[in-house]
Amino acid sequence: MLVDHSEDPQPSPTDDLPLVEKYRPQDMDSIISHTEILNTLTNFVSQQRLPHLLFHGPAGTGKTTTILALARKMYGPQFGMMTLELNASDDRGIDTVRNQVKSFAGTKNCFSKLPKLIILDECDAMIKEAQFALRRVVEMYSSNARFCLICNYVNRIIPALQSRCTKMRFSPLNPLSVLERLQEICANEQIIANEEGLRVIVSVCNGDMRKALNILESVWMAHRNVNIDTVYTTIGKPHPRDINTFLETALNNTFENTDRECWAMKENLSLSLADIIDAVHDRLIRIDFPPLIKCTLLDKLARLSFNTTKCDSERLQFLGLMGVLQEARLATIGMKETLERVDLQTV
Ligand SMILES: Nc1ncnc2c1ncn2[C@@H]1O[C@H](COP(=O)(O)OP(=O)(O)OP(=O)(O)O)[C@@H](O)[C@H]1O
Ligand SMILES: [Mg+2]
Repeated sequence: MLVDHSEDPQPSPTDDLPLVEKYRPQDMDSIISHTEILNTLTNFVSQQRLPHLLFHGPAGTGKTTTILALARKMYGPQFGMMTLELNASDDRGIDTVRNQVKSFAGTKNCFSKLPKLIILDECDAMIKEAQFALRRVVEMYSSNARFCLICNYVNRIIPALQSRCTKMRFSPLNPLSVLERLQEICANEQIIANEEGLRVIVSVCNGDMRKALNILESVWMAHRNVNIDTVYTTIGKPHPRDINTFLETALNNTFENTDRECWAMKENLSLSLADIIDAVHDRLIRIDFPPLIKCTLLDKLARLSFNTTKCDSERLQFLGLMGVLQEARLATIGMKETLERVDLQTV
């Protein structure tokens, strides 16, 4: 039997896209945080005086999104013709860059008075020689094009290039804005999520919206429900409940008992030492130790954290952690109630 599907609801072309792409803001108004940067850029555009730009800052904070949204705003339907985007996955030898820039910026677009825009994404991956050569390219094509260099680490960009651009730092996104954005997306996508689960995502993403959206999507795909438990299970980080038990054991027992019980816990729950150290650090800074003791403990934890990346013996580093916690125990004798007062929430 033939079935006529012509009346069926058509899937939207964006339905298959991952959330990061589906929710990449297309215009400047949908970009969260960075109010000052957005205002400055809007002023540049309205006065038609766009300088060369250098966007820098951690991953997932909207650098690429912002320049693309700005280009759309500036050029409207001519966006495609007026913008050249090159990134690190392309061949970044200076000859290729020079040739591409030359063939793109070497001709004027007779439909527009505006300069063209050349986006050099992930610029910090360019070798120094290429960056030196780029100085000249930027100058040669200044009458016809504006450059926007984008990178994570601005100190990897040579000073001569930096000084040719207006620098803008994209800081990690504000946690509240990330939370609100996640809630909005959940409502749109009919994702079942409670606020506590979303707060955990916000705290682990450290202001990286790409990471937040990717975690949200994985948790939802894996569990069809986003809450504290499903988030921790998916990201493989220790649950705060387990860290509390771990710390309570360590801060209330002798070295031998602590070592035996905490090691068993670590093995049974398959916790990684690096994650335990991070979580313990997170708790210890919130305990009201005398300042000198606190400084010593934090310093030792920082060293341990560094050593775990360099030393193959997890057991050795684990014993180091036990040692630090014993010191904390001796400092907390008589401070039990302090420990109970510590806010054990993650966010
Ligand atoms: N400020 C923001 N407002 C709204 N969404 C954002 C913002 N920043 C990032 N995102 C989301 O994160 C995704 C990645 O952003 P984008 O590619 O702009 O990051 P980036 O700063 O260029 O990162 P990288 O340094 O890794 O290239 C976007 O698709 C978007 O969904
Ligand atoms: Mg980018």
